[in-house]
Formats: sequence, structure tokens, C-alpha cells
Amino acid sequence: MTSSAASRAVMPPGTESFLDSRSLAADHANLAALLRPGMTVLDAGCGTGAITRGIAQAVSPGGTAVGIDINAGLIARAAAASAGQPNLRFEEADVNAERWEAAFDLVTSARVLQWLAVPARAVAAMVRAARPGGTIAVLDYDYTRAEWDPALPPAVRRFFEAFLDWRAEAGMDNAIAAHLPRLFEQAGLTGVSGVDQREVATAGNADYQRRIALWPGVIRPPPEGTRPPGPPTSGGPRCLLPQDA
Ligand SMILES: C[S@@+](CC[C@H](N)C(=O)[O-])C[C@H]1O[C@@H](n2cnc3c(N)ncnc32)[C@H](O)[C@@H]1O
Repeated sequence: MTSSAASRAVMPPGTESFLDSRSLAADHANLAALLRPGMTVLDAGCGTGAITRGIAQAVSPGGTAVGIDINAGLIARAAAASAGQPNLRFEEADVNAERWEAAFDLVTSARVLQWLAVPARAVAAMVRAARPGGTIAVLDYDYTRAEWDPALPPAVRRFFEAFLDWRAEAGMDNAIAAHLPRLFEQAGLTGVSGVDQREVATAGNADYQRRIALWPGVIRPPPEGTRPPGPPTSGGPRCLLPQDA
């Protein structure tokens, strides 16, 4: 990963509670269908561990879940929220580090490869961590296919385009979801298949606020001195996203 990508991949302050609100069922549903009691699972780039906790429950009894993340603060939060769940542990680690060999039945990552300038390195480490015959299950985005109805207000549209430029400039792939099959095949995986998992936020639906809650944290300029080169900001301290459009 280039240092530029690494610094831009840091979750903005205040977004921890957004990560906490995620769940296996709502936010990694295709993975949920693959999990069985007794499985060993690595969740690479687990954030605050909300999805990992669901994984640990799904593989009980007899299974274990390990969550890793490069962000020490997020790992501490994950561990604190999971104390007392014996088949679940968290470690601060880089997804690129080849830390395990043939140790897991299933290795997953959700919304992580999109932040890496060299995702193939992380995929190689994930493949190495899986046992022969094991499964790699990755969830990620194709920002180039995002759709809005009604159309975004012009200022938010400009922000979103600048956000994608800022990511691309650091070497991140804005259409990584479309490129995952090729990445997997290049890593030597067989039986590769893609499944659609759309994230839809519809005003009026029960989870609408939860689904859009990340963006104010991304758009809002961070307080001076709290963050390395941040994303392009709207130029003002206010969130420009329509909260109830
Ligand atoms: C968008 S969050 C996704 C968190 C969680 N998987 C989820 O879906 O809610 C991306 C996570 O990837 C982590 N991350 C970024 N680069 C990483 C790396 N090189 N190794 C491990 N984790 C990384 C970030 O710290 C962050 O927690």
C-alpha cells in the first residue's frame, strides 16, 4: 500500500459509531449464508467488529472468529464490546501481512480492499490464511455504478466526484467490485463467482438514517491537526447531504 493510500484509508474520527451499527445480517448478508457452526473465520479489516461478532455467533458452537484491523483504536473498541464472547478475538494487524498459513475455513473482508493501492497483496495474504479448499468471501464497492434518485444536489455531486478523484489519485480502485473476479483468478483461486449485494438507502425506510450516517463524517472537515491529508471537503463545516430528501 502506498503511504498516501494508507493515510487516506484511516476512518474519519466519529465514524466508529457508524461501524458499530453494522451487522452480519444487514451488511454482509451473502457471507451469512456461507457460515456454519464449527467454522474458523478470519475477518480482515473488521473495524469495530460489529460484523465479526455476528460471524462468531453464526459459527457457534465449535467455531471461532478472528477480527484484524490496522487501526489500533478500532481494535480496542472491538475487543471491549466483545468481552465475554469466548470464540471471538481481535488483533491489530495489517491485512497485507502474511500472518497465517492454512489456518481458516473462510477468510472474509468487507469494504476493505477498496482502500488499498495494491489489493492483490492483501488477496494473496488472505488466500494463504485459508486452508486448502477453504473459501475467500469479499464484499466491496463499485462507486462508478452508484445511482441517486432524485439526482444529487450539485454541491454534493461535486463532493462525490472529488472523493472518487482523491481515492484514485492514491491508487485506490473505484470499481474494485468489478475487478474482484480477475484479482481472485490471478491469485490462483478456482470456482470464483460474483453475487450482487446492493446497498440501497431509501428515504422513509427504517434504516435510511443508519445507511447514510457515514457521509456527514466523511464530508465534514476534520478539526485542525486531527487527521493526515483528509478527503476533499465541502469547504464548510456543515454536512451537505440531504438528511431526508
Ligand atoms: C470501511 S471500514 C469496513 C469495516 C468493516 N469491515 C465493515 O464492513 O463494517 C474499512 C476498514 O479497513 C481497515 N483497513 C484499512 N486498511 C487496512 C489494512 N491494510 N489492514 C487491515 N485493516 C485495514 C480500516 O481501518 C477500516 O476499519
